[in-house]
Amino acid sequence: MCELNDCTTRYVKEGDTVSQFDSICEVQSDKASVTITSRYDGVIKKLYYNLDDIAYVGKPLVDIETEALKDSEEDVVETPAVPHDEHTHQEIKGQKTLATPAVRRLAMENNIKLSEVVGSGKDGRILKEDILNYLEKQTGAILPPSPKAEIMPPPPTPKDRTTPIPISKPLVFTGKDRTEPIKGFHKTMVKTMSAALKIPHFGYCDEVDLTELVKLREELKPIAFARGVKLSFMPFFLKAASLGLLQFPILNASVDESCQNITYKASHNIGIAMDTEQGLLVPNVKNVQICSVFEIASELNRLQKLGSLGQLGTTDLTGGTFTLSNIGSIGGTYAKPIILPPEVAIGAVGSIKALPRFNEKGEVYKARIMNVSWSADHRIIDGATMSRFSNLWKSYLENPAFMLLDLK
Ligand code: COA
Repeated sequence: MCELNDCTTRYVKEGDTVSQFDSICEVQSDKASVTITSRYDGVIKKLYYNLDDIAYVGKPLVDIETEALKDSEEDVVETPAVPHDEHTHQEIKGQKTLATPAVRRLAMENNIKLSEVVGSGKDGRILKEDILNYLEKQTGAILPPSPKAEIMPPPPTPKDRTTPIPISKPLVFTGKDRTEPIKGFHKTMVKTMSAALKIPHFGYCDEVDLTELVKLREELKPIAFARGVKLSFMPFFLKAASLGLLQFPILNASVDESCQNITYKASHNIGIAMDTEQGLLVPNVKNVQICSVFEIASELNRLQKLGSLGQLGTTDLTGGTFTLSNIGSIGGTYAKPIILPPEVAIGAVGSIKALPRFNEKGEVYKARIMNVSWSADHRIIDGATMSRFSNLWKSYLENPAFMLLDLK
């Protein structure tokens, strides 16, 4: 059976002149999106696909007429199977030019030949800064902010999270039904969720008082910010989950299809359900068991940035062992999370809300309350285990100082 990739962005049209390594289009498979670059200098003679068409792996993508082949036949760029390594390399006159597709695109947009740029990255890799420096030298152009500055939001201000999010898109009523094929990442969702349906889900919910954690994050957020990292609540949720998984390893396990064997995973690769332009993606933070909260935050920033650019790669999207979904950053209180096979457990957290609660003295105080909903594979996990894990996770988050005792 042929693998399929969807053509999602096109950078050239028929008649355009292209050079080697110029971006031709972006294709998306059910795992990643990749920029296809030209192998030749020449003129685009034929495009085989329109935007959002399904391109067949190994079939022609575009015909390019090269100088050498003028009046004879044209060279053909084929659709590759994606994903391949996002950091592609090509040969130029016997010399390797290393650069990511984004850097190649930046070079192309500014008519810069990569062969003329000196790369300052590992093994001479050409970085975005190298292109910008080159451009500055050529044109005296002012450099845009560094990538670190790009991901930095303005200094945080306290917000009321219960404010409804306004509808930002115009409402369009066409009056007609519309049918379209399910493609790209959505196809993965169909496959994964259909497989998940075979798992008997056990659900367990509780509320967590994050009053102390909210205070702690307010203190740590500017410090992390000064070190170039945006610190949300997720890194604490992930670290607390990992500490819990050390005590309840069955929740960080997988079962084979016939449910004969359980594999206890050594790494805590915790997936985060991410709402992206391309739909729901679940990249994972690798080895949370050996990461500090700051390191988790930094990795989460990286994944969020890649997610927003549609550039999450296969490594980021595979190998998860446990998942946490923060639907609360959008809204809502409860969820019914669906396990991502071959994982066996998943948690979903709702919005943190200011609510009245009683302290030990029976006095009412303003608490920061968040609800958590867990789902576990009931074939191998019983309710008591899920409940004990949840209690432990909750105790770390309600008393963040407890985490210090167990952090490595
Ligand atoms: N309640 C209240 N506020 C929350 C919150 C919650 N549950 N979760 C996050 N926030 C706050 C953050 O602290 C941050 O506030 P700040 O600007 O004061 O620092 C703000 O909301 C934005 O956070 P965000 O950038 O979304 O980071 P995050 O680490 O909390 O979440 C993702 C990262 C990837 C999980 C999130 O961006 C996302 O995609 N959520 C949707 C997940 C989804 O679709 N789930 C359903 C799967 S079926």
